[in-house]
Amino acid sequence: MEQSRIAQPIGSALDRFIKSNQDHFAYASGELSQLLRDIALASKVVNREVNKAGLIDIMGGMGSVNTGGDEQQKLDVLANIRFTRALQKGGEACALISEESETFMDLNNDGKYVIAIDPLDGSSNIDVNVSIGTIFSVYRRKSKPGMPIQPEDILQKGSEQVAAGYILYGSSTMLVYTTGHGVNGFTYEPTLGEYFLSHPDMQIPGDGKIFSVNEGSYNSFPDGVKQYVQYCKDKNYTGRYIGSLVADFHRNLLKGGIYIYPATAKDKHGKLRLMYECNALAFVAEQAGGKASDGKQRILDIEPKTLHQRTPFFVGSKNMVDKAESF
Ligand code: AHG
Ligand code: MN
Ligand code: MN
Repeated sequence: MEQSRIAQPIGSALDRFIKSNQDHFAYASGELSQLLRDIALASKVVNREVNKAGLIDIMGGMGSVNTGGDEQQKLDVLANIRFTRALQKGGEACALISEESETFMDLNNDGKYVIAIDPLDGSSNIDVNVSIGTIFSVYRRKSKPGMPIQPEDILQKGSEQVAAGYILYGSSTMLVYTTGHGVNGFTYEPTLGEYFLSHPDMQIPGDGKIFSVNEGSYNSFPDGVKQYVQYCKDKNYTGRYIGSLVADFHRNLLKGGIYIYPATAKDKHGKLRLMYECNALAFVAEQAGGKASDGKQRILDIEPKTLHQRTPFFVGSKNMVDKAESF
């Protein structure tokens, strides 16, 4: 049976909101609630570090690359440690898939959930004081708690997510998440150290006028994408591209728009990672009435083959993604 969407007064504290909505979860409600609290707690620590980044020695590169070949920033590594620790101590997660680790990490063997995370998204924007984010997906493990983690626990389709969301470290810090009953956004009040419901039951406009794509790579886009970008220009749409997926996605969620990261000559399968970037945002987009596709099929239906697999990504207002697909 379709459960009703969550209705809560604006200003509810996140903890209270999570608690009063835990009846919506089909099983193990207290554990998923705790997991969301652990993620929120880690995000507060990361937020503190992001805000101080210019003052202490945590800007700039580590001098290392991650598994995707990207140069690791100090804050990437720090954020990864913060989330890993919070999830380990929290006890509800059995395994963690992260952009910053080549293989998945075993956390608590008794835990019932598998987490996929991009601890810090938009790392090229850290040093220039531009919005960055965190992206997370939550899955239920398939194997019995206490048993060794199995491949089917790790490589689950996006449609199996039980919760997903992101934190945006922007002009204010926001946590936006879904447990499959709509999308709610919470704004962080730093002096109280608490998130409060500010954006209940978020809906993305069915149509929009913003297109977000890195046009520097235009020459190597597939023909259909070139034509769609030209179509946006012919329509006098507004081009907006921050270069932090979370920030670009969030703006388009509020205002209506499409975010595109297609296949390019450099990245034959696109740049963005299915497991810890696209799936979470696809789940949020669909729950807000939007759409997410790789250009041909629904992102949430893609069978993952590897942890760090990439996919072309078209996400945002439903009619815009439909139109892009038609090219
Ligand atoms: P990350 O910092 O986690 O590696 O992700 C960066 C991603 C994404 O945030 C952004 O939308 C995209 O890379 C920007 O890529 P381009 O610089 O190629 O446009
Ligand atoms: Mn990222
Ligand atoms: Mn990242």
